[in-house]
Amino acid sequence: MTVVSLVDSAAAAPRPPGRIGAPAQIPSFRAALRHLAGGVSVITTGQGADRTGLTVTSLSSLSAEPPTVMFGLNLSSSSFPVLARHRSFGVNFLNATQKQIADRFAGRAGEKGEARYAGASWTTGVTGAPLLEGALAALDCEVEELIERHSHAIVIGRVREVRLGGDDAALVYWRGDYERLGWMAEEARTACGLRGI
Ligand SMILES: Cc1cc2nc3c(=O)[nH]c(=O)nc-3n(C[C@H](O)[C@H](O)[C@H](O)COP(=O)(O)O)c2cc1C
Repeated sequence: MTVVSLVDSAAAAPRPPGRIGAPAQIPSFRAALRHLAGGVSVITTGQGADRTGLTVTSLSSLSAEPPTVMFGLNLSSSSFPVLARHRSFGVNFLNATQKQIADRFAGRAGEKGEARYAGASWTTGVTGAPLLEGALAALDCEVEELIERHSHAIVIGRVREVRLGGDDAALVYWRGDYERLGWMAEEARTACGLRGI
């Protein structure tokens, strides 16, 4: 195992504010994080023509009582000002067939705002946030807190509504690419010989 120290050897030397580790060490940090497999979610926010959103892997649960989630949101993303203004968002857990939706919400082909919603069906949650039909599960959340730290905001959301989808394979991101985890429900039924029953 290669060990890369991210602590400055000249620890006693004065450091510019906000500097953590030398720039040369950042590639090691990124290389390590590539190995962390993450479930892929689409965060939706805004309404009507003022809708936008992004693909994330940083979503995690924070507490069950009360039900809260959190994720890291880049302050420079086009979603940040919209989410800060609307104070609500949807979390949509993608299944293995929804890679195109992940690409659209990551803005891979340059899509922005409402254009990211094309090619999929949406409903609206109690907070007004758009929720994806056909997601593994969807959460409708109110923003409880936005904590700005370094380049990102830690977004804490209070879950107001939960929608459960099917038991399909999950879309995960691992080592710079999309992977699938598990079986689509239809595949599982076929494999078990239950198709048509
Ligand atoms: C697999 C994957 C995971 C991502 N995870 C995050 C994340 O957790 N937080 C974040 O702010 N951006 C994340 N991004 C980047 C955003 O999806 C998006 O590309 C970025 O916000 C730029 O959007 P903009 O064009 O709206 O500014 C991720 C992108 C991909 C492809």
